[in-house]
This record gives sequence, C-alpha cells and structure tokens, in this order.
Amino acid sequence: MHLEGFFWVTPLLAAHALGSPHPVPVHQYPARQTTPYAPKQPPLTTPWTDKVGTNPWPEYPRPQLERADWQNLNGVWQYQNAADLNAVDSPPFGQSLAQEVLVPSCLESGLSGAASPSVHGAVTTKFTVPTSWDQNVLLHFGAVDYEATVFINGKQAGFNRGGYFHFTVDATEYISKDGDNELLVFVHDPTDSGGNVIPIGKQRIVPSHIFYTPCSGIWQSVWIESAPENHIDLLDLDANMDGEVNIYVHSSTGASTPVEVSVFDGEDEVASHEGSSDEAFSFSVSDVKLWSPDSPTLYNVTVRMGDDEIQSYTGFRTISKGEVNGVVRPLLNGEFTFMFGTLDQGYWPDGLYTAPTREAMVYDLEVLKDLGFNMVRKHIKVEPALFYRACDELGMLVIQDMPSLIPLQNVLPNEEQQTEFARQLEVLINQFKSFPSIVTWIIYNEGWGQLTDSHPEFGLTDRVRELDPSRLISSTSGWVDHGAGDFSDNHHYANPQCGSPFYSNPSSPYDPSRIGLQGEFGGIGQNVSIEHLWNVQAAIDTVIETYELDETVEAWNYRSHILLGELQDQIRRFACSGGVWTQTTDVEGEVNGLMTYDRRVKRTDQEQWRADIQGLYDAAAARSE
Ligand SMILES: *[C@@H]1O[C@H](CO)[C@@H](O)[C@H](O)[C@H]1NC(C)=O
Ligand SMILES: *[C@@H]1O[C@H](CO)[C@@H](O)[C@H](O)[C@H]1NC(C)=O
Repeated sequence: MHLEGFFWVTPLLAAHALGSPHPVPVHQYPARQTTPYAPKQPPLTTPWTDKVGTNPWPEYPRPQLERADWQNLNGVWQYQNAADLNAVDSPPFGQSLAQEVLVPSCLESGLSGAASPSVHGAVTTKFTVPTSWDQNVLLHFGAVDYEATVFINGKQAGFNRGGYFHFTVDATEYISKDGDNELLVFVHDPTDSGGNVIPIGKQRIVPSHIFYTPCSGIWQSVWIESAPENHIDLLDLDANMDGEVNIYVHSSTGASTPVEVSVFDGEDEVASHEGSSDEAFSFSVSDVKLWSPDSPTLYNVTVRMGDDEIQSYTGFRTISKGEVNGVVRPLLNGEFTFMFGTLDQGYWPDGLYTAPTREAMVYDLEVLKDLGFNMVRKHIKVEPALFYRACDELGMLVIQDMPSLIPLQNVLPNEEQQTEFARQLEVLINQFKSFPSIVTWIIYNEGWGQLTDSHPEFGLTDRVRELDPSRLISSTSGWVDHGAGDFSDNHHYANPQCGSPFYSNPSSPYDPSRIGLQGEFGGIGQNVSIEHLWNVQAAIDTVIETYELDETVEAWNYRSHILLGELQDQIRRFACSGGVWTQTTDVEGEVNGLMTYDRRVKRTDQEQWRADIQGLYDAAAARSE
C-alpha cells in the first residue's frame, strides 16, 4: 500500500503529540526524484477528462460567502504515501515528495495522477501571499477526506475530521509575506478498514456492485483569502415566501459587531437593514419574486461587518407540510408540489468524488432538468457548494442525505462513533442550510448504521429541526421506520409502493400522518458495450446483480414507461407525494442510469420520458383541485 518507508520516525519526533508545534526533522533525507504529474488512464473517461488540465476548478468555491481578495491554490502539488498514522508526527518538511498529484482530486482517481489506494499520506504545495494583502490570511479547504492535519511552514496550523465539509485555518501567524510558504497536509482516510465506523457513503476499500472505489485526500478546492481579523465566518440566510429574511452573521471573534445587509434585484437595492453579528435578526422585502423550480429567482445579498464585506445570495421560498384534500403533502410556497427526482450519487469515472469540471457537474443537472425532473436526491454524499449554487440557479429541489456509516454485517457504531456521526450531521446542516434549493434532509438511508434498539433517529430529528426549522426531514429513508420525521418513505425495486395500501418487508405500511414518498424505485438496468463500462473486471462481474437487466434500450424504455405509469397511478389513487428514480448515471458495476457512467450515452427516449414525467405532475395537480 505504501511505496517505501518515507518517514523516518525517531522516538523523539514520534513523541510529539498532535497539536504541538512540529520541528523540522533533524535527519537528512536522501534527495528524491519527484515523478511529474500526468493523469493516469482511468478505467473509463468522460467528455471532460481531457479538459481538466493543471488549473482545475478555477471558480470561486464558496458562492454564499464570497470575498474579493482571494487566490486559488488548486493545481499540481506533491504527494507521497506514509507508512502509518504515526507519520503525522514527522512530516516531510522542506523535501521533495515522491510524485506530483492534482489538487483537488481523490488520490484513487485517474485524474489525481496517483491512482493508487491510500490510507495515509502527505501532500504539499508552496504558495505566496500577495504583498498587497494587509489583513489576516484565511486558508480554506472545500473538503478533505477523511482527516486533515494542516502544517504551514513546519508548524501545525489546523486539524479537521469529516470528509465532506468545509474548514478554515487562520494562517496569519504561520505565513510569511515575502517568499514561499510551505503548506503540508497530512491526510488519513481509513474508509471502512480497521474497525472504523465513520460517515463514508458508498466508498469501500473493496468495492462491490452498489459500493464503489473510495476517495481519499483533498477532493475539493483549496484557496486563501484576505479578511480582517474580525471577519464573517459563516452566514445563515433563510428567505421565505412572505418576503421575510432571517439572518445570523457568525463572526470569527464572537463579539457582537454591527452589520449591514443589502438585498439586490439585479442592480437595484430592494432592501437594506442593520443588525448585529452573533444574534438572529429579520427584516422584510416587499413584492418579492418567489423561488421555485419553474422560476428560480435569486437575489444578491451583500453583508458588511466592520471592515469585512462579503457577497452572498438567496431565494425567497417556503417549504412546509399541510393537508390538501385530506392528504398530508409537501408544500412549496403553500402549494402541493410533487417532487420527482433521481438518486444522484455524484460519481465520476475519471474523478470519482470530484467532477472533472464544473461544466461536467452542471451537465448532469441540465440533462435531468431537460427531461422534466424538478428534484435530485443527493445520495449519501455531499457536493461542493457550487453544486448547490447550480441547483439554486437551475431550479432543482434537493433532498440531501447525510453520508451513511458502513452498513455491512450489522456493524453498528459504538457510543463514540455515534456521537461523531451526530456531530457531522450538525456540521452538514449548519454548512448547507442557506441554499434555497435544499428542501429536505435525510438522516438515515435503509437502516445503514442506524442503531435499532435505541431509535436514535428521534433525537437526531429533533436536533436537525432545532438547527433548521425551515425544512422537512426524512428521518429514515427506506426500511427501519419507527415513526420519526415528516415522511413515510418507501424504497422498493423495481416498482413503486408510494403512499399505497401495500408494502414489502423491510419497509413499513404507509403512515397517513406523514408525507408518502417513494424514496427509491426503478433501478432497471441495461448492459452496454465495454467502451462505456467501468473497465474493471470485478465490477463487470457484478453487472448481473443489477435489480433488473433489460436486453435492449427499447426494452429499458418500455419498462421505464410501465414503472412511471405505476407511479402515476399511485398518485391518482393513493397518497403519493414524490418519487426518486434510481438513478442519474451508471456507477462502476451498476448499469441502471439514465445515462452511462461516462455520460456519453443517454438511455432515455426523450419524448416518452418527458411525457411520462409531465403525467406525474398532472396527476398530482388533479389531486389539489
Ligand atoms: C449577482 O451579482 C453578480 C455579480 O457579482 C451578477 O453577475 C449576477 O447577475 C447578480 N445576480 C442577480 C440575481 O442579481
Ligand atoms: C455486460 O457487458 C460486458 C461487456 O460490455 C460483458 O463483459 C459482461 O459479461 C456483461 N454482463 C452481463 C450480465 O450481461
């Protein structure tokens, strides 16, 4: 697994506890030849593989908290594997590492240039800070899977645990304004190895059919920006159908500081309000244009706090539940809105968790929008902020899953692991609750990692509700339902059982006190020729495990039509308020996508699918009359 014994761990250096400053190791390391960056041929490419280059993801990564003075650190860094976790105590400062890799990328992906499984390793780069910057320097990581220990110029400057979330290191005291700064990140990602029960979603050290290649390392953008010492750390922004803006500005010092908020419709300032940081306040905007999938109107927002000024945006909409003609329904802006989406996993054959480009990432959403889908269920993965920005702009509702713990062989979390799962769930809600497109949170998928005797979903649902009272919660999507949350969420393949008076074990009967949702169905597959398949024999061997295989695209479209017709029937007859079709694309050994894994083939008969999806909305509208 590791390439050689790079880390010469002396007892002296190994004795340094995490958190203590790390001196430059006293031993002289042999000069090393660094292998230059070159993408490795992935088992399957996409139309964007060749467009990635060495300046990936140039876009500003955090559209809801954007500062003018920033610098992207994405690009070619150096990397080498480490023997074990203890290597964090003797990082290879001031050295050339074994090979160049691309940041951001998963170290297991072809695009990384490493394409080798990794559990621990160091990645380094050098950066300079513009001499014109005379404020604090913030170092941002979009996401690093799973643990990151950050060293700047040989000193430990930060640590983060959790593979899906943004974190910031205030680099000010560690950096030098003249010349190069050395940034070294030690990453540790056990995935499902070594008795670890951590949020990993579909990643597995040994992939098999519905479980895929893992992602380790810096898989989202890294950047620095200039901000005053007391700066805005986080902005909670919720705007509703009544024109009310609810806002909470979190400052870095936590000291109550005056803030000024302005809301813009294009160039026109339509409201401004003064308040204080570190406390909630609200104000109203009159005659707002509402946000919805059909009309995804967004408003720019500027927030000033002392010398700090950031750009953000919001959309005015309200998600709630209520009875319509005797059935509990999800309401968007007060009206029953049938939510129809795909199970959207966000995997790429060339980049795994990291889409090759923003354009590629948005392409998936545009394909869905074009067919008439108004929703995606982001399945046990969390995307970069720019994904949610794209959903906000395109008008795609998002049902967001918490990444699951390992579900295998009834491996359940111990108390400490459960506490960490709950902590990361809170981070998910706090970091993503300002995106207008997200309308529902899912805590557990199909009982994976869900303690069954203590029913933790009740407490977690209360906690999510406390952190974000503005959205709906599917506490258990599929299977182990004890009555928590807003949805009675059925999973069934291939045909749906949506709000219906029939169900199959281990799902539960439809509960009329909650919203009837088909959280997963479909999943029908159709095998394709090798040039569109993930060319890994172990994955190809699992194609047969697909829920159903249709021998031709015509047969697949025929079966799709039957299944969408069944769902439509259930909307007319029963209490079905939304559905999730498995899935957007093929993934590794699964061949049940609307598109192949390389996005080069669409299986969908466009006209038939558009008509069938419209039929669902029409059937739902008839139930609102
Ligand atoms: C928000 O501001 C950006 C420029 O910062 C502009 O490109 C965009 O059109 C604005 N959006 C709206 C909805 O006004
Ligand atoms: C799927 O297709 C691949 C070749 O493209 C083939 O090797 C494999 O055997 C097929 N599997 C099934 C179950 O048809």
